[in-house]
Amino acid sequence: MNLILLGPPGAGKGTQARKLQDERGLIQLSTGDMLRAAVKSGSEIGRKAKAVMDAGKLVSDDIMIAMIEERISQPDCDKGFILDGFPRTEAQAQALDAMLGRKGLKLDHVIEMAVDEKALTERIVGRYTCAKCGAGYHDSFQKPKVAGICDVCGGKEFTRRADDNAETVRTRLEAYRKQTQPILPYYRAKGVLKSVDGMAEIDEVARQIGAVLS
Ligand code: AP5
Ligand code: MG
Repeated sequence: MNLILLGPPGAGKGTQARKLQDERGLIQLSTGDMLRAAVKSGSEIGRKAKAVMDAGKLVSDDIMIAMIEERISQPDCDKGFILDGFPRTEAQAQALDAMLGRKGLKLDHVIEMAVDEKALTERIVGRYTCAKCGAGYHDSFQKPKVAGICDVCGGKEFTRRADDNAETVRTRLEAYRKQTQPILPYYRAKGVLKSVDGMAEIDEVARQIGAVLS
């Protein structure tokens, strides 16, 4: 099964994609995580992307399309994948259709995570992740069971993203409204778009996604 989780910054795409990966064995393909890994490695793509990401703008379609095409060609994606953060523009949505067509694959569901924009800044500025395994947490909404220790791997170091500040969030939301929201009608017209309540608690959102998939 291949699906897209679609929603603005902080909607919970990464949180739900990781749950689906753990529980259903689908592969999470987060373009944001891929770009952050490229920045960390100091590769040419990473160098190009860093300033754009720090400003909250979108990295070029060419780079993103090539990155996803390369990734979905890897054998682990045969099990099915969850696109988290891609596509984000009409050009990316069309390129995705073309590449899936070439590979004989299809999209089973596009799940819109509907959220109230007012809640997103609080979600984003409170977010942090385990430096060792990448598990996601939040200062108020998703604390580790034992303070300062990762539930998943026992790690004690955590990191926050460079773009997770209130000012950059404004630009990221604007990019979502102008460039990403217009792709919703594209998927609605194809009959694959479903919506879940992204304002519900994390487990309830997961339950609603499960209902769409079954
Ligand atoms: P990316 O990493 O994709 O960031 P984003 O879209 O801004 O989304 P986030 O990761 O911030 O939010 P999320 O929906 O994953 O929320 P999360 O689950 O963490 O992209 C970063 C940058 O890379 C972009 O700005 C762009 O520059 C570039 N980029 C990436 N892809 C690109 C593309 N295709 N084209 C061009 N450029 C691209 O949840 C947030 C917090 O809320 C967490 O702390 C979580 O614990 C908490 N939370 C989650 N769900 C709930 C809930 N239901 N209730 C309460 N709290 C919750
Ligand atoms: Mg994310």
